[in-house]
Amino acid sequence: MKSLWTLDPNITYLNHGSFGPSPLPVQQAQREWMQKLEANPMNFLVRERETCIDNTLQQLAEFVGARATDLVPVRNATVGMNIVANSLPLAENDEILLTDHEYGAVQRLWQKRTAAAGAKITIASLPAVFQDADTIVEAIFSRVTERTRLIVVSHVTSSTALVLPVEQICRRARKEKIPVVIDGPHAIAMRPLRLQQLGCDFYTVSCHKWLSAGFGSGFLYVHPRWQHKLDPPIVSWGGTPYGRPRTWQDEYLWLGTDDPAPFLSISAALDFLQEFGIDRFRHETHELAARARQQLLDQLETAPLSTDSIDWYGSMVTVPLPETVEVPDSWTGKPHPLQENLWKKHRIEIPIIKWNHRMNIRVSCHLYNSQEEIDRLLQALRTELG
Ligand SMILES: Cc1ncc(COP(=O)(O)O)c(C=O)c1O
Repeated sequence: MKSLWTLDPNITYLNHGSFGPSPLPVQQAQREWMQKLEANPMNFLVRERETCIDNTLQQLAEFVGARATDLVPVRNATVGMNIVANSLPLAENDEILLTDHEYGAVQRLWQKRTAAAGAKITIASLPAVFQDADTIVEAIFSRVTERTRLIVVSHVTSSTALVLPVEQICRRARKEKIPVVIDGPHAIAMRPLRLQQLGCDFYTVSCHKWLSAGFGSGFLYVHPRWQHKLDPPIVSWGGTPYGRPRTWQDEYLWLGTDDPAPFLSISAALDFLQEFGIDRFRHETHELAARARQQLLDQLETAPLSTDSIDWYGSMVTVPLPETVEVPDSWTGKPHPLQENLWKKHRIEIPIIKWNHRMNIRVSCHLYNSQEEIDRLLQALRTELG
């Protein structure tokens, strides 16, 4: 499969989870959209763009089990989450409930939003080892109070690469009448999605991770009960050129002049994965991640973050590093020395992540990754950690 990607042959890329490169057919499709734009910007942006976006939304909607009329394009999950944060009514002493596995930038944006409103964040600590959905759901709902205005949970967590039982979380939240936003950039392609059935209020997606669409492509799912309460991040014309019936989506379809090629490349990314076989994709990438997990646990002699099941991790896995690996006191913005050494000395791109007072290694396994690359990583870790 590697020949379908244009990765530098001198590197070992084990970080699809952060930034997922596109295979050639997707790159080609994106180039063709740009050529269409460059050939006649007036024609493409004014006459054709909206229908092309509608078609892509329709194809996406079928893939994620939603109605196309409940989705809007955004450049990434971060933009989607910001829209939710800026739209949610919040009063003094209100609470936003997050788990202790949430993504750093998501924590930061909710901290900013709650501070501005005199509200606060509550953090639910999840079990040290994921093995049972009920315990995880209980850990979250034990922190709910009558002031809880929203639950923020990842579908697949960033640092720990764990899958949260979002179906059970949404079911319980509906019973308790608490809205839920799911931070879902890793889940599309990696996990089966039926958004309408899930019943969450919002779901944020980046398509430039596991789906491997162009960089700067994503969408936000909004349940109909929220659609007219949302504040668009950018105020523009808010309408469509040829006077088609107005919908809540209009405010998100033209945020000023922009290049729609990354979003439109989603169609080619869906075709690519569906042609390969989505179940086959999930199975093969998980198998590689599962083998990598076991080999890392054996070599590093550390304890896993979950039992060994596709219910708890998919195509990406995080393994704790030994306690002897230095843990920086606070986030310096600099990569960990081990991450730097793996890159500089071994040409391996892989994140070394601090989580729960410990350093961890996160391995992403896409179709272009191989056991040989995992062996290279294991050898490099032997050299670096002894
Ligand atoms: C769980 C989670 N949420 C949000 C994001 C932000 O994604 P993006 O940078 O595509 O907006 C990431 C990125 O890695 C993530 O892992």
